[in-house]
Amino acid sequence: MTNDSRLPSLHSHLAWWGLRQFTSDEAYFQWQRETLSSEDLTTLHRQVEQKRRGSAADEIAFYDATAHPNILPVLYSQRYDYYLAIGLRVADRIGGARSVLDVGCGVGILTTFYAKQHPDKTFVGIDRSPVSIERARERAQALGLTNVLFDCLDLDHTASNSSYDLILATHALVQTEQDPGIPSRSWTTFERGSEGHQQADFEGRTGIGARLDCLSMQLSINGRMILFEKTRQLARRVPLQRAVAARGFDLIEQPELIRYRLVEEVADDGPLYLLGRGISHPLHWDETPEPDEGCSFDPTKLESGSADPDAPLYENHWSSAQIVWEQLREKKVLHETTRQEPDGRQLHVELGQASEGIYLYCANTLDQRQLVLVEPASRVMLELYYREIASGEH
Ligand SMILES: C[S@@+](CC[C@H](N)C(=O)[O-])C[C@H]1O[C@@H](n2cnc3c(N)ncnc32)[C@H](O)[C@@H]1O
Repeated sequence: MTNDSRLPSLHSHLAWWGLRQFTSDEAYFQWQRETLSSEDLTTLHRQVEQKRRGSAADEIAFYDATAHPNILPVLYSQRYDYYLAIGLRVADRIGGARSVLDVGCGVGILTTFYAKQHPDKTFVGIDRSPVSIERARERAQALGLTNVLFDCLDLDHTASNSSYDLILATHALVQTEQDPGIPSRSWTTFERGSEGHQQADFEGRTGIGARLDCLSMQLSINGRMILFEKTRQLARRVPLQRAVAARGFDLIEQPELIRYRLVEEVADDGPLYLLGRGISHPLHWDETPEPDEGCSFDPTKLESGSADPDAPLYENHWSSAQIVWEQLREKKVLHETTRQEPDGRQLHVELGQASEGIYLYCANTLDQRQLVLVEPASRVMLELYYREIASGEH
């Protein structure tokens, strides 16, 4: 069975769990208000706030609350398109594995889907939220699944001597969504340094190092791992990849960047990695920025003569702005500032003159780039922006 043929089964599986697919926030929130009591909503909002504090206890309390039978369908419906995107890709890659561990399985929405799709394989779902595991067991029983077990375990505090052919970790290993990752060597490059302490700090504060060590021990010799975390930004993607590679994992297929909707919001997530050990022809780990949607630059086709005199000749907010800035001809810097931001990133702002026009270039060590090019007559406007950004008021 392939992706397309599994889609109807996944829709009916999600419907069985009480989930609904929404494309409008208005319709979703109306359903939320109709379905949940004001006490449920207050509890949920309080738990969301507490989860932001980032302690393990707060996070467990949050996932416990979301596993409550009233709250579960409403809250997890926001992730409907996530389940479609991940569920189908993972189900298609289970391949020849006989035993599968789904780590951080939550209430088991996806684990039970995989178990239904692959009745000849055994699945184990583990999670540290006891209410999520209670719900997962109850639902697996209601589905009549005999090839799936759920266990309440904290990966950070449990040594296991089980062995699996495939480990699934989807939105499970890197919970620190606010972590800035590792900055680049300087604002002029996207390259990360190779100093071990930065990597060790990242692995320690996010917990990814210890979790990968624990999972590595549970993987059979030719076992594979599917990993999907919120690590799309280069500053987080590079240390995640280095952490994985340092534990002997190779890339089996090209990592896939995934876009899905959280009702109306678009989530750019991933990448989704398929990993193995001792792979004969592993793919190369890519540490460069992802291809972007930056506007192509042709100096002969700049947007002059627009009705708006302040409209820029050219604007690029993507990583490719760096290449364009490097290519500007007869560049003369008028003002420049490089400073350290309170969060540790280094920021460079530059106002300059080139054959193509007056430009403002901003670059920082967390991979953000911005280039704006204007006619000489609009120089004052860029000077104003420059002063605002350079003084930290922007
Ligand atoms: C965002 S949910 C993802 C659920 C599921 N994997 C999915 O893709 O929908 C993250 C889950 O990971 C669990 N989790 C986080 N850290 C864990 C740990 N150290 N041990 C076990 N479970 C953990 C949380 O309790 C939560 O249920």
